[in-house]
Amino acid sequence: MRRLWGHIRCAILAVAALTCLSVSSAGAQGNAASLYNARCAVCHAADGTGNTTAGKKLGARDFASPEVQKETDQELIEITAKGKNKMPAYGNSLKDSQIKGLVAYIRELGKKK
Ligand code: HEC
Repeated sequence: MRRLWGHIRCAILAVAALTCLSVSSAGAQGNAASLYNARCAVCHAADGTGNTTAGKKLGARDFASPEVQKETDQELIEITAKGKNKMPAYGNSLKDSQIKGLVAYIRELGKKK
């Protein structure tokens, strides 16, 4: 019986943890920023310039450049989901809503100059 309660407590904790996770991933901008810094900044740099060792080597463009600015949100969403040349595809590891949030964040980075 003791053991069973242990399992139940464990299950309750797991459900609580999952609820926390899904609530936080529903958050908008703040979450996109931390996602960007964790997943994208290695190549694109925290400020979106692509000015990192990996970014320069692979050819990541400045998000503020006219080439990137003239692409539509839809195109940027597609590149993020499907990848392009050295840009990895994120369609399997990120949700559509997360990718949309990231593209909105990239637009903000592009404007800050
Ligand atoms: C391993 C390095 C790397 C990582 C990590 C990376 N990218 Fe990229 N990204 C690139 C490169 C290189 C390009 C340029 C692709 C090309 O046009 O040849 C690119 C291009 C892009 C573009 C298109 C803009 C353009 O140059 O036309 C978007 C949008 C983009 N990345 C978003 C993201 C997002 C969002 C993440 C994180 C989820 C991310 N990238 C992570 C390397 C990376």
